[in-house]
Amino acid sequence: MTRVYVLTNHKGGVGKSTSATNIALGLAGVLRRAGAANSRILLIDTDSQGHASLVTTGRNDYGADNSLYTVLMADRASAPQVLVNCIVPSAWDDDLHVLPASPLLESAEPELIGVAGAPYRLADPLSRIANQYAAVVIDTRPSFSLMTEMGLLAATDAIVPVEPRYLETVGLMSVINRINEVREGWRHPDLRISGILVTKLDMRVRGHKHLLEELKAHSVLGKLVCGVIPANEAVSYAHQNHQSVFVYDPQAPAVDPGVPRSTAAPAG
Ligand SMILES: Nc1ncnc2c1ncn2[C@@H]1O[C@H](COP(=O)(O)OP(=O)(O)OP(=O)(O)O)[C@@H](O)[C@H]1O
Ligand SMILES: [Mg+2]
Repeated sequence: MTRVYVLTNHKGGVGKSTSATNIALGLAGVLRRAGAANSRILLIDTDSQGHASLVTTGRNDYGADNSLYTVLMADRASAPQVLVNCIVPSAWDDDLHVLPASPLLESAEPELIGVAGAPYRLADPLSRIANQYAAVVIDTRPSFSLMTEMGLLAATDAIVPVEPRYLETVGLMSVINRINEVREGWRHPDLRISGILVTKLDMRVRGHKHLLEELKAHSVLGKLVCGVIPANEAVSYAHQNHQSVFVYDPQAPAVDPGVPRSTAAPAG
């Protein structure tokens, strides 16, 4: 079964899109270097802001005929083929393909709410074509919306990026509960919480260090911390150039030097 990773947190600006795009790029590179028979990765952008689409393809003007919106509006029988038709190559890596978002996704949600089977309009067609890819990575919008529910129902692994700030970590338990609700309430047992990814960590900031320690000591959340991404201003300049930070600034540390290797995130 192709693993489908969803990056989710209803809090805005915590690094969902940055993590989704770089994890997707990293997976393609790791698989290729390992000589995998298939190293193709599909990145799905479910956020109408289209940030993941913009940085990986250089465009965010996808619309009614060439985006995730098209897939959601297609009838059930043709949706898998429509999905394949809407996938575009990324500018980052030959093995990284993108199903782009569209600003039209804003109107898709009110249109689809209450429509039978609407929450499965991504999961169903994706399950038919996912085996063409080694893995799928889904970026979501900062809300508990129908679109995010669609992303969770299409996924096998939820990763929760979080900034090491008090109010951000306070909301963590509700994100975890929401994922568990989708697994139990929607009978989607394949969905598991893969981990909490601490982003933009600066070990020189006392509060960051303290919150990371608190998080790791937490009886439930502590076991879920799967990686730590250092703060690096180069990320936003890389975005401006529609590049991965690892191409824009090859010296960029993939892990925080102040964090023990056991909890440090893999490159990408
Ligand atoms: N490791 C990092 N170091 C410094 N800045 C970062 C890092 N990761 C992300 N950023 C910056 O933080 C901002 C938010 O990142 P990003 O867009 O990935 O978050 P998001 O959770 O997807 O936001 P939204 O909720 O709006 O979709 C961006 O300006 C990005 O450039
Ligand atoms: Mg985003």
